[in-house]
Amino acid sequence: MRVDVVSIFPEYLAALDLSLIGKARQQGLLELTVTDLREFTSDRHRTVDDTPYGGGAGMVMKPEPWAAALASALERGPFPAGAEGGGAAERPVLVVPSPAGAVFTQATARDLALREHLVFACGRYEGIDERVVDWSREHFEVRPMSLGDYVLNGGEVAVLAMVEAIGRLVPGVIGNPESLVEESHADGLLEYPVYTKPALWRERPVPEVLLSGHHGRIARWRRDRQLERTAARRPDLVASLDPATLDRADRAVLAGAGWVVAGGHVVPAGGDGPAAPVA
Ligand code: ADE
Repeated sequence: MRVDVVSIFPEYLAALDLSLIGKARQQGLLELTVTDLREFTSDRHRTVDDTPYGGGAGMVMKPEPWAAALASALERGPFPAGAEGGGAAERPVLVVPSPAGAVFTQATARDLALREHLVFACGRYEGIDERVVDWSREHFEVRPMSLGDYVLNGGEVAVLAMVEAIGRLVPGVIGNPESLVEESHADGLLEYPVYTKPALWRERPVPEVLLSGHHGRIARWRRDRQLERTAARRPDLVASLDPATLDRADRAVLAGAGWVVAGGHVVPAGGDGPAAPVA
């Protein structure tokens, strides 16, 4: 996979040299290029922003440097070269981090991990001139993406998070792919709690079942804790569960946490289900 990041603060992305993603780059699994947007300016002051049409606070990123930077990323093409396998070339994906984007989830990470060329456009100030996004649709699949419902000062921190979440799903990047199967969000539930030695620490024992060596009981215990924890912390995820994936034991745990299956959905017990949208 090729990953291009364009930013006015390329140093921010230095963390991508470290750890798993850094190793994946060294191993040739990921080809990552970080470019300074200011390289694509043509004036003495290397200007990347200007005042907004229509007035208002803050500055807007100018279209010309962005168009030149994105055209340069496009020229690099997929990695490895010809990764499209002789078929129709896949459009590169342009990810535009923004609090106004769709929320980036594990499903987004899984989807983007299958692509050959991702380009990330880190906006700053009030954002990038919207015409850049319109123009980019002629060349890229454009995905405005938000990390969540809060505002960062720019896209760089969001890109660090997204590249890590995507990169670790690229085949070969994580040595033991089994570890991806049981982590949070893999099956729509949060991960179960984990323990290591010593078996007794500050008068707190490890749950006995984990010492039993009984794989079936351990798997059931872990699943129960996943369901309980998800119900306590993320009721939105419980409401999105497919009842067809829930066995009797799952339903019993959910009932204990106040959830039942009704009308093909998982809903709060005793409630009327999700509130209908107000007309
Ligand atoms: N840029 C500023 N805020 C952001 C957010 N919440 N997610 C992604 N990019 C951002």
